[in-house]
Amino acid sequence: MKLVTCGLPYANGKAHIGHLRTYIPADVYVKYLRMMGEKVLFICGSDCHGTPIVVNAEKEGISPRELVDRYHEHFKKVFASVGIEFDYFGRTDSEYHHEMTKNFVKKLIEKSYVYSKEIELAYCPKCKRFLPDRYVEGICPYCGAVARGDECDQGCGRYLEPGEIKEPRCKICGTKAEFRKQKHYFFKLTAFRDFLLEYLDKVGGTENALNYARKWVKQELKDWCITRNLEWGVKFPGEDLVVYVWVDAPIGYISYTREACKNLGCDWEKIWVEGVKKEGDIKWGDIIHFIGLDIVYHHCIFWPAMLKGVEFALPSAIVASGMVKVEGKTFSKTRGYVVWVEDDYLKSGFNPDYLRYYIVNYTSHQKDLNFSWKVFMDKVNNELIANLGNFIYRVTYFAWKNFEGDVWSFNVKADDSVIKAVEKARNEIVKAIKNWEFKIASDAFMELASFGNNYFQSKEPWELIKSDKEKCAEVIANCLHIVKALTILAYPVLPFSMKEVAKIIGVDEFRMNKVNEFEKIKVLKKPKPPFKKVEEEKIEEMEKLMIDRIRKADEKTVKYVTIDDLSKLDLRVGKILRAEKVKKSRKLIKLEVDIGNEVRQIVAGIAETYKPEELVGKQVVVVANMKPAKLMGVESRGMILAADVEGKAVLLTPEKEVPIGSKVR
Ligand code: 2FM
Ligand code: ZN
Repeated sequence: MKLVTCGLPYANGKAHIGHLRTYIPADVYVKYLRMMGEKVLFICGSDCHGTPIVVNAEKEGISPRELVDRYHEHFKKVFASVGIEFDYFGRTDSEYHHEMTKNFVKKLIEKSYVYSKEIELAYCPKCKRFLPDRYVEGICPYCGAVARGDECDQGCGRYLEPGEIKEPRCKICGTKAEFRKQKHYFFKLTAFRDFLLEYLDKVGGTENALNYARKWVKQELKDWCITRNLEWGVKFPGEDLVVYVWVDAPIGYISYTREACKNLGCDWEKIWVEGVKKEGDIKWGDIIHFIGLDIVYHHCIFWPAMLKGVEFALPSAIVASGMVKVEGKTFSKTRGYVVWVEDDYLKSGFNPDYLRYYIVNYTSHQKDLNFSWKVFMDKVNNELIANLGNFIYRVTYFAWKNFEGDVWSFNVKADDSVIKAVEKARNEIVKAIKNWEFKIASDAFMELASFGNNYFQSKEPWELIKSDKEKCAEVIANCLHIVKALTILAYPVLPFSMKEVAKIIGVDEFRMNKVNEFEKIKVLKKPKPPFKKVEEEKIEEMEKLMIDRIRKADEKTVKYVTIDDLSKLDLRVGKILRAEKVKKSRKLIKLEVDIGNEVRQIVAGIAETYKPEELVGKQVVVVANMKPAKLMGVESRGMILAADVEGKAVLLTPEKEVPIGSKVR
């Protein structure tokens, strides 16, 4: 039995297109595997713990459980509505999951992979509490960006350990936090370095995930703090702490498997404990994780080490989807660049298959996917309808109208070119699916549809029906062979529409080994076009909705300043005298800048756009009264202004050379 999982969505907000970017390809993968005769268990569920859920519940004045109830049901409903069929959709706040997690953690403790240590943690003197993860905001010690307690989400993307963040502030009341000592528990991740290197060398999946992970293991493995000061979560044995959400969430894959097996009669221990084969130090499971690129670190580093620690089987593949853009801009809920699956898409009455096709077919699974309503319309109208839908409808309608759906009273035989085209599509799809190439798979059935259209066109059955009915029947029989193949081959991507076509042509099973069979396919009832056109006015309406949302988000985030506020900034024109890269940093450059009355050392995050030698001699705008800070251990006394272009810095300079030290106003 193969186990396929999807990253567990936080039960903390509604489903959006970013979720579907991972879950739809995973569902497509599972549907193809099942068509190939493989036994697959497909599981997912809500990730119910962690500070974001506690913070949001607090904001709404409800309990975390109530918040989780709401979104858990929402996700279940939305996934079913877009044809994603999990065998089990669990929740990590359930008793069975807490029990599984506690046992897992106890085992790690028994095996001496967990130790305690006193650490300095951010503490809010006003709220009188420690500030775990999202409760604290400050400065990333690596890149200087504004960061959350557990991740540098707007800067270098690093995972931050408790206590690492600089200049912490309480996210709830805004008070400057102080550091206080407290005992916490650590997982000995560093003990798994060699194992991880070997594992990451051999594990399957997509290179986007594995390349990052290999680099990280080589560069910066640290022991991992696995406890937090919270009430909501799985209790850490013997302490008034909970385990970190990223410890219990992936254990959900196991607890959900166990629950699924209770209903389906499989054996969870065979999957997770016994595994399928041993290879040196690695016990392999037949387990495939579908995840987003933002959670590679957790799945390729923490998780395999945890599993190895308790001697469980290891995932055989980690498949990471590229990120999502909306109308060309980085996906962002707060900035309005989002498509909500239920409110925007489903409530507008669009066929879920259209979105499935878009997500699978827009680009390769590993690349970034841009969602744009215009492209959506083009893909539906010019590809699904003009090619696939057109072929299926014209063939079935022709057969219905001219033969009452049955061409088999004539003596007809299979056309070699048709048989070969069908075989080719099937083989390409089988190969592509094994390589996580869902675009190639969907292109293959679309190419078969094109072949079908050309075949139909070139044989001119509308002429043959008048001159040679038997020949005409043969053409249609061959076209029906293609229609049947398409119905099966496209089913995993377009399940709702292909089920309808299957009813029309009497296909009652979606199996790969039916595809090549030249069967007596009949049209059993009056065909309908399988797809409905997407209207331009509807797309304009969707675009308007998006524009309004972006404008509203802009208004919400705008913070007005007064002249007084502005006068607090000492902005001056300076000239860069020297520049060199900060060692071990991808982004930072150390500069010496003449600002008129002195030469300042300033560290700037601009190494991704500029080489140090290009900078020397440039005039720049400097915030001269910036509070001194240390970035990667290097002192910075000032800041240089730059435009942020998709995360890259482009320096601001005066329009013409001005005297050094000129004030900016
Ligand atoms: O990033 C997220 O949305 C997490 N909730 C994913 C958890 S995946 C797994 F490890 F459970
Ligand atoms: Zn950072």
